[in-house]
Amino acid sequence: MNMTRDNKPVLITGGCGFIGCNLADRLATRGDQVAVLDNHARAGVRENAQWLKSRHGDRIAIVTGDVRDSIPVIELVREAKAVLHLAAQVAVTSSVDDPVDDFEINARGTLNVLEAVRLHNPCAPVLFASTNKVYGRLIRDNQIARIDQRYQPIDPVLAAGVSEAAPLDLYSPYGCSKGAADQYVHDYARVYGLRTAVLRMSCIYGPRQFGNEDQGWIAHFLLSALRGMRLTIYGDGCQVRDALFVGDAVEAWLAVLDNIETTRGRVFNLGGGPSNAVSLLELIALISQGSGAKIQFGFADWRPGDQPWYVTDVSALTAATGWQPKTPLVTGLGALQSWLTARFMQQRGQEALA
Ligand SMILES: NC(=O)c1ccc[n+]([C@@H]2O[C@H](COP(=O)([O-])OP(=O)(O)OC[C@H]3O[C@@H](n4cnc5c(N)ncnc54)[C@H](O)[C@@H]3O)[C@@H](O)[C@H]2O)c1
Repeated sequence: MNMTRDNKPVLITGGCGFIGCNLADRLATRGDQVAVLDNHARAGVRENAQWLKSRHGDRIAIVTGDVRDSIPVIELVREAKAVLHLAAQVAVTSSVDDPVDDFEINARGTLNVLEAVRLHNPCAPVLFASTNKVYGRLIRDNQIARIDQRYQPIDPVLAAGVSEAAPLDLYSPYGCSKGAADQYVHDYARVYGLRTAVLRMSCIYGPRQFGNEDQGWIAHFLLSALRGMRLTIYGDGCQVRDALFVGDAVEAWLAVLDNIETTRGRVFNLGGGPSNAVSLLELIALISQGSGAKIQFGFADWRPGDQPWYVTDVSALTAATGWQPKTPLVTGLGALQSWLTARFMQQRGQEALA
């Protein structure tokens, strides 16, 4: 499918967010028109909107609106050649504090998007940003061993990564709302024949990520190191994630979109895979090595739904599209560090002038 052929925009919900704005930038750079729907709920994302406008002008239209409101959703979906649905309440912690709000945005908002496509533009491909949280804890305590500063599954088959065959075990309100949305998106391909695909993402990191303690932990760790702030580690710090650089994640999304006749009706796990797996304590050591600064940290209780180990098996996505992660963790960390440092210095400069 040649997505650049006609002039209709690709609609990105949550397109001012971290992953969404990187996707918008890449699509506009290759010549696609882009429409963004975002309510700017995430602190900092107006900066991403300005960045997109400064780089692409009229090629990107940014509409302020909410996926809970079906009117703007229908208006934008009607005109779109494809829909990338990323708008979400993104933090497990916030979902525990306010599960109704989380449900309305993540589950109800996704149903609004699907209904708009079904009723007004049923040929448009729909890609959904799901999460590894739909697999729950995945692993029992007696199935993992702690080796130095990380957990590792005892079974070497599992250690190679989690495939799409793993059973769903929605954990935490965020896991439930995203899991419900994930299943609706998948089912609309079966029941209504929509051209949908689900991407269950592990930890994505990179420039334009406004990470905080609740979501975006790699950016949060780097930023805390820059600011000389003490980190709190929830759990023992040996929990492992496979990190995927945002540039590689964007290429994966485009690969699924551009091969929609092959990928429609499918679910894919998306992450950096075993070679980009890192524990919290290992990341702190890596950041310290890179910056020469000693990072201060303390410990607090585990948070609900936190997986001790999650590493993606990307082979289904590779088989379907040829995509593979390319950016090694240290290279990606360097890119994020450079972006955060430049932004931090700029802010300091502005504060000094004020
Ligand atoms: N970053 C990751 O590691 C990761 C991992 C798994 C899944 N995801 C999913 O990927 C998507 C993007 O995540 P991100 O890291 O870019 O987060 P983000 O917070 O940077 O982006 C989400 C965007 O959605 C917008 N938004 C929130 N509520 C909205 C609403 N009701 N209507 C319209 N816009 C709304 C926010 O303002 C923000 O710009 C989310 O769906 C998230 O659940 C992210």
